[in-house]
Amino acid sequence: MRKQIAAANWKMNLTLAQGEQLLDEIIAAPHSLSNNQLAVFAVPFPYLTMAQQKLSGKQNVFVAAQNCYSKKSGAYTGEVSVEMLQSIGIQYVVLGHSERREYFNESNHFLAEKVNICLEYNITPIFCCGEPLHIREADTQNEFVGKQLEESLFHLSAGQITKVVIAYEPIWAIGTGKTASNEQAQEMHAFIRQQFAAKYGEAVANEISILYGGSVKANNASAIFAQPDVDGGLVGGASLIANDFTAIINALK
Ligand code: PGA
Repeated sequence: MRKQIAAANWKMNLTLAQGEQLLDEIIAAPHSLSNNQLAVFAVPFPYLTMAQQKLSGKQNVFVAAQNCYSKKSGAYTGEVSVEMLQSIGIQYVVLGHSERREYFNESNHFLAEKVNICLEYNITPIFCCGEPLHIREADTQNEFVGKQLEESLFHLSAGQITKVVIAYEPIWAIGTGKTASNEQAQEMHAFIRQQFAAKYGEAVANEISILYGGSVKANNASAIFAQPDVDGGLVGGASLIANDFTAIINALK
């Protein structure tokens, strides 16, 4: 059975003290995670160790980095390697968030290299894909997202692809308060799963968790997560509010 995942993406927000307080509040709030449910916290690099310590021993709770570099090590000032992340016990990395694609020019091919190095080090990539508004308006979102998957992921083996988590995030719904409708989310998630089924077979496709991202809130999470091909969410704004993110964890199916 594929995992249902509530992933918090703090982005470039919060001081250390605010991050500590947020995690303390979420830990103290009533939530329960069953065997196939996970909560993941993608925090800024300087807070990874703090978050690891606070969440250690918590069942089905993981810390993620928000990025990594594609090379093993060397003269890349300012970058963070997967080996470094592995050495502090990190098991998840968000890759290819639309903000990184847009502001830092991350291409599908560059992301393929990052996916490879994560898998080499046994770190699960949370691979983001999703179309901008003009593509949605032209109704070519399937081609757009299909190309992102093909160019960054389809070189992987069936054994490798089941270690990748997908986050579909329509760019027009990120931080805008505009969520894709439940139907739009389901339609795209089903399309993504079909692409994996066509490439790797149905059984493999059914193992892959596909999260929805883009203005997931406490009051819409259950309805979105209830869609058959939606396996949880990648959550920005609402993950910064303890009560809201707790409600989102509790909305997992
Ligand atoms: P949002 O961000 O929930 O604030 O829309 C989601 C994301 O960018 O991962």
